Amino acid sequence: MQSSELRQKYLEFFKQKGHSIIPSASLIPENDSTTLFTGSGMQPMVPYLLGEKHPLGKRIADSQKSFRVLDIEEVGDKRHTTMFEMLGNWSLGDYFKKEQLNWIYEFLVEQVKIPAERLYATVFDGDKSIGIPKDETSIQILKEIFAKYGIDAKEGERIFCYDVKKNWWSRSGIPQNMPVGEPGGPDSEIFYDTGAELKKHENSLWKNEKCHVNCDCGRFVEIGNNVFMEYKKTLNGFEKLAQQNVDFGGGFERIVMASEGTDNIFLTDLFSNIIFKIEELSGKKYLENSKPFEVVADHIKAATFIMGDSRGISPSNLGQGYIVRRLIRRAIRFGRQLGITQNLWTKEIAKIVAEDYKNVYPEITENLEFIIKNLDAEEEKFAKSLDAGLKQFECLDCKDVITGKDAFLLYQTYGFPIEMTEELSREKGLKIDLEEFSKESQIHQELSRTASAGTFKGGLADSSEATTKLHTTAHLMLAGLRKFLGDSVSQKGSNITSERVRFDFAWKEKMTAEQIKQVEDFVNSAIGKDLPVICKEMNLDQAKEINATGVFEHKYGERVKVYFIGEGEQNISKEICGGPHVEHTGTMGKFKIIKEESSSAGVRRIKAILE
Ligand code: SER
Repeated sequence: MQSSELRQKYLEFFKQKGHSIIPSASLIPENDSTTLFTGSGMQPMVPYLLGEKHPLGKRIADSQKSFRVLDIEEVGDKRHTTMFEMLGNWSLGDYFKKEQLNWIYEFLVEQVKIPAERLYATVFDGDKSIGIPKDETSIQILKEIFAKYGIDAKEGERIFCYDVKKNWWSRSGIPQNMPVGEPGGPDSEIFYDTGAELKKHENSLWKNEKCHVNCDCGRFVEIGNNVFMEYKKTLNGFEKLAQQNVDFGGGFERIVMASEGTDNIFLTDLFSNIIFKIEELSGKKYLENSKPFEVVADHIKAATFIMGDSRGISPSNLGQGYIVRRLIRRAIRFGRQLGITQNLWTKEIAKIVAEDYKNVYPEITENLEFIIKNLDAEEEKFAKSLDAGLKQFECLDCKDVITGKDAFLLYQTYGFPIEMTEELSREKGLKIDLEEFSKESQIHQELSRTASAGTFKGGLADSSEATTKLHTTAHLMLAGLRKFLGDSVSQKGSNITSERVRFDFAWKEKMTAEQIKQVEDFVNSAIGKDLPVICKEMNLDQAKEINATGVFEHKYGERVKVYFIGEGEQNISKEICGGPHVEHTGTMGKFKIIKEESSSAGVRRIKAILE
């Protein structure tokens, strides 16, 4: 079955079961500051899972573009990608376990024609510490389903029970990591038996035990997950949500793989044209070089999807843009490993992605010019310094530890994202001093800020006081924009001189005169209240938990500084930031927005001053 036919079949199947089919949401989350990218189909559904009424009813299904940066180094094992599509269906306080499990197995066995004996199920084993029992109901339903297909589904053979680490789902993982207010619940995963040779994976947690679906030996692949989302985290543990929800997510690429009876998603029609192009560019064969092929194929495809999104992002050193940069640069490095020597080759792959998906995600074709321009620019910047940087890295090879200074040099002079230097170090078995790297980059940021301030009129002391005030202004402005335009507003960049702050943020439309006035009044009222600005150090998880704004995927440096403007009830801004800031807002003067304009697709730019 062609992948496009399978996608269609899934949507049709759930349409017939009374679901409204919705289009994929953007890869760049809206009204959700918990992640940089949409990483699952449920993410845009969170308000409805929590009880808000969905305009299209209680049954929804879709195929959602998803991206998970955490999987970047998993790519290379035939079945992981960072970019994937998630087939999703939801019951928003409507049907529950019985319908969901029956339907999804019916779909997989009767429509996709995966032999039932190749399917295995997992369920939640219960957890006393959070007071949630073993999911006996699902076990019973699953036994009946398998019996329909002539299979006696015994526990420990066909149905496996696991604890919260494996069979609990929330956006933040296990119950202990969930912030208050987050929905989650037990899940029942579906595994496909590739029938591959039983090879014990040396990293498997269960390497000394009998093979089972989660043992990571490579034989079983998860293809779908039924989450029974009926709980919400509170300050005192878990409570039931007002409604029982189902959140199903199916790995589209993997279901296509299973439907074709292979154990490799890169051999399906979702990748074959891309793989063929890489073979042509490199003169090498995929099957003899599978890891670098898969990295190049996945990363350029992912970067193409992100740049080609309706809220498309260019490579940069910040937030989502930094991830796009990492993807492209890592692909170029692996491309080099494959011996690709042509200049500006990455766009050849982007063109294929656009063509392959033109009927499903036409926005990629619509934005192809933008994608190509960005890929060319990024390749031009990086391809030149890559060889020199790799040589430089070789020189460090004789040391045991890559110092923070070394890593920073690779970053600043050769454009190596820190994660690339980490990966190279791991490949060579070297340690890397990330803490020193973090310090180095902070020192550098402060130096360049002072240096640029110094080039403007007035003495250095004068300028740096003015820039500090404008820096605090930027935080207030972001808080104001989020208050009046919505939480989806995120900062895209800023540039501060002693005279003005230039501030870029994700927003599609021109701001109205009224919105500009609201933001100005908000900032001026904060200045009028003479609020204290307090810096607290905490680790990244705590910053996330209190919902601080800022760039969370800055992996380096466990500890971050969070600047709070206003205390307690008066708090109006909390943002991860290196500083410096004023101590009290009262000294700042009068705030005025002097310009509001488009900066690039989906990004607005404000210039503002303090009078
Ligand atoms: N939210 C669940 C997952 O991502 C199922 O959709 O696995």
